[in-house]
Amino acid sequence: MEEHFKWEINGLKRSWGQYDQEMLRSYLVQGVEDPRINIQSILTRHFLIERLFGEQFAEMIEQELRFGLIVNWLLRLLDTSVSARGLHAVLDSLLDGKDKAEEVKIPGYVSETFAGLAVPNYICDLLSWAPIESTDVPIPDYLLKTFQKIWQEVLEGERAERISVVEPGCGSANDYRFIDAYSMGRFLDYTGFDLCEKNVRNAKQMFPNVRFEAGNILEIDAPDYAFNYCFIHDVFEHLSVEAMEAAISEVCRVTRQEVCAGFFNMYSGEEHVVKAVDYYHRNKLSMGRTKAIFEQYASCVQVIHIDAFLKSKFNCSDTHNKGAYTFVARM
Ligand SMILES: C[S@@+](CC[C@H](N)C(=O)[O-])C[C@H]1O[C@@H](n2cnc3c(N)ncnc32)[C@H](O)[C@@H]1O
Repeated sequence: MEEHFKWEINGLKRSWGQYDQEMLRSYLVQGVEDPRINIQSILTRHFLIERLFGEQFAEMIEQELRFGLIVNWLLRLLDTSVSARGLHAVLDSLLDGKDKAEEVKIPGYVSETFAGLAVPNYICDLLSWAPIESTDVPIPDYLLKTFQKIWQEVLEGERAERISVVEPGCGSANDYRFIDAYSMGRFLDYTGFDLCEKNVRNAKQMFPNVRFEAGNILEIDAPDYAFNYCFIHDVFEHLSVEAMEAAISEVCRVTRQEVCAGFFNMYSGEEHVVKAVDYYHRNKLSMGRTKAIFEQYASCVQVIHIDAFLKSKFNCSDTHNKGAYTFVARM
């Protein structure tokens, strides 16, 4: 590793290592970050499903994206302190085909999904689980597991050739734990690594038989083209621009086919906006500049601006993070 990166890596270890192990296990899998409803995590699972099974599950894929949108909408509604009676009124309006319930305007993608759902209709449950006194209780886990159960069922009898996948900056198996729970793990020869040893310990405790290792994205411990695919979420913004460019080069070096990379803080501007915080970064990355780095190694880079994608596909205009982008780079 180049000398000037050593100082940065020590700082990154210090920044992530300062957190309590228990907190690292849970803080990135809650609320809008919950991979069951986070659109970028859903897209990553779909990326893997499509590499394994082609277009076979196209309908499920669309329905799971709708599920993610609707639970995100409900979380925002709950933040406005809507009452349980208010939620029931939304359900009544949906059943009556109306687009408004008291003060709540119901987005088109909610009514459209509601109208298209057969039994069981999870939206009925989502709007009526709260006890009448309060909505200040979490959405029950069995509802958040709606698509987990569906994927488990549909994948149960499936066969496919295993694909090798690497995930740099895997945290405490934040995404892998759902890949496993959704019965996708058996199709993958998976390697996850993270700079923070506490994260690796958490991941190994949860999955003693899966390859989780301590590792640095600036010098990935693997030969060229070692993996068919790579996916990565929310790591590049935390590196200096020089380190980010080196990390992209490393990720492309070890990947034979495609990289699916999620960014949480990107924009269409021409320059990166560099923001150092303590020993790490929270940069706002230029989409064009970052794409150009991938293009040095990839034959084709597809850019998905999550907000624009959801607007065009579902007419959804209320996504919470306008800076979320996913790149799919083909080597
Ligand atoms: C914001 S977290 C994202 C974790 C996980 N990918 C997710 O989306 O939930 C960033 C992760 O990158 C890891 N990380 C930071 N710098 C790294 C490096 N140089 N090499 C490998 N992992 C790194 C951190 O330890 C942390 O777990």
